[in-house]
Amino acid sequence: MIIESLVTTLDAQGQINCAPMGVEWGEEHIVIKPYQDTTTYRNLVVTRAAVVNLTDNVWLFAQSAISHPVFPTRPALAVRGAVLQDVCSWREVVVEEIDAQQERARITTRVVHRGFSREFLGFNRARHAVLEAAILATRTRFFPTEHILNEFKRLQVLVDKTGGAQEHKAMALLTEYVRKELGAV
Ligand SMILES: Cc1cc2nc3c(=O)[nH]c(=O)nc-3n(C[C@H](O)[C@H](O)[C@H](O)COP(=O)(O)O)c2cc1C
Repeated sequence: MIIESLVTTLDAQGQINCAPMGVEWGEEHIVIKPYQDTTTYRNLVVTRAAVVNLTDNVWLFAQSAISHPVFPTRPALAVRGAVLQDVCSWREVVVEEIDAQQERARITTRVVHRGFSREFLGFNRARHAVLEAAILATRTRFFPTEHILNEFKRLQVLVDKTGGAQEHKAMALLTEYVRKELGAV
């Protein structure tokens, strides 16, 4: 099963990076699959540790999908890493194996610590819609403009029906970003 997470990693100088990643979930092992051109990949190769943050805060997903924001964090307990302040729960992991044969690498990690911070508040169509919009925003080069704009229209309906302030703000940010990227302003 793939779980949508925010993976935080550190570079050799200790600079924190945060990126949305769909990870293959397991209790003992988690497989992170970053493209080789991502900062997440480069950091995992160099520092061989990460924190897999689980949160229902889609505003964090939207921002980190399209930019490199600096979110508030606290130090991880078992690895050299950073736990997001607005995390519900998290896993601290160390790299066991890197398979870089494909452009999208497979990095098998071992869970060395589990943490819990607050309740993950249930499923919601607007939050799901923002996640889908964030994925589309990272793939504007691969899909026809028409497809992306149509999808955004469809997803906006779900945000309007069931979203709160955070989901509206996140969707607005992503919409502005894709319009600029596609030259559709
Ligand atoms: C929900 C979601 C899941 C994603 N999953 C992955 C993934 O598994 N692998 C990947 O390389 N990019 C994935 N992306 C895209 C990256 O988050 C995006 O390319 C990001 O800019 C990479 O950041 P980085 O260069 O700071 O590591 C995902 C995006 C979203 C919104």
